[in-house]
Amino acid sequence: MTDHLLLREVIEAGLPVFYEQQLDPEATQMAASAREREEFMAHWHNHVLGNERVIKKTIVFDGQVAGNMVSFEQFGEREVGYWLGKEFWGQGIARRVLAEFLNIEQTRPLYAHVAKHNIASRRVLEKCGFVEAGLVVGTIHEDGIDDTQLMIMELV
Ligand SMILES: CC(C)(COP(=O)(O)OP(=O)(O)OC[C@H]1O[C@@H](n2cnc3c(N)ncnc32)[C@H](O)[C@@H]1OP(=O)(O)O)[C@@H](O)C(=O)NCCC(=O)NCCS
Repeated sequence: MTDHLLLREVIEAGLPVFYEQQLDPEATQMAASAREREEFMAHWHNHVLGNERVIKKTIVFDGQVAGNMVSFEQFGEREVGYWLGKEFWGQGIARRVLAEFLNIEQTRPLYAHVAKHNIASRRVLEKCGFVEAGLVVGTIHEDGIDDTQLMIMELV
């Protein structure tokens, strides 16, 4: 994209940084999601790194690992997800990275499930052309079901 902001392959050494970024309490509240270290590492090792159907990118800003963006299959649909370290928020990084990522992930329709209260993420998606396509209540985790309202966002 630019010298300051670019997408790079994910390497093993980036995983501890991603893990720390998703531990932040405010981020966890926004995304209504968090994994313990063991579960986080197992997920990335078993379902992401070795899975060629998953597109995974490290977001690099000013030479630092700012976060990650991925796309994957869920219930027969293609889905995008992302996470930025808190110190990188509020600079338009997610919007710019998603716009670029959509050139790499060209499946349409493409979906995102975003907590209804996650206004920042909803704005990012809307700015990249996603529209609301429904609402689901209750997400299924390894450890049960919670009652978070998730907005389904769709890019056609
Ligand atoms: C959601 C997230 C990716 C946003 O990244 P970001 O780089 O800060 O977003 P941008 O700077 O591109 O901002 C996009 C829009 O959201 C708005 N926004 C950013 N933070 C906001 C906040 N806390 N509350 C309300 N609006 C917010 C921005 O003002 C901007 O809108 P505008 O262009 O109309 O001003 C980042 O906060 C994050 O990683 N959060 C934790 C994990 C998460 O929620 N992942 C998404 C799961 S679906």
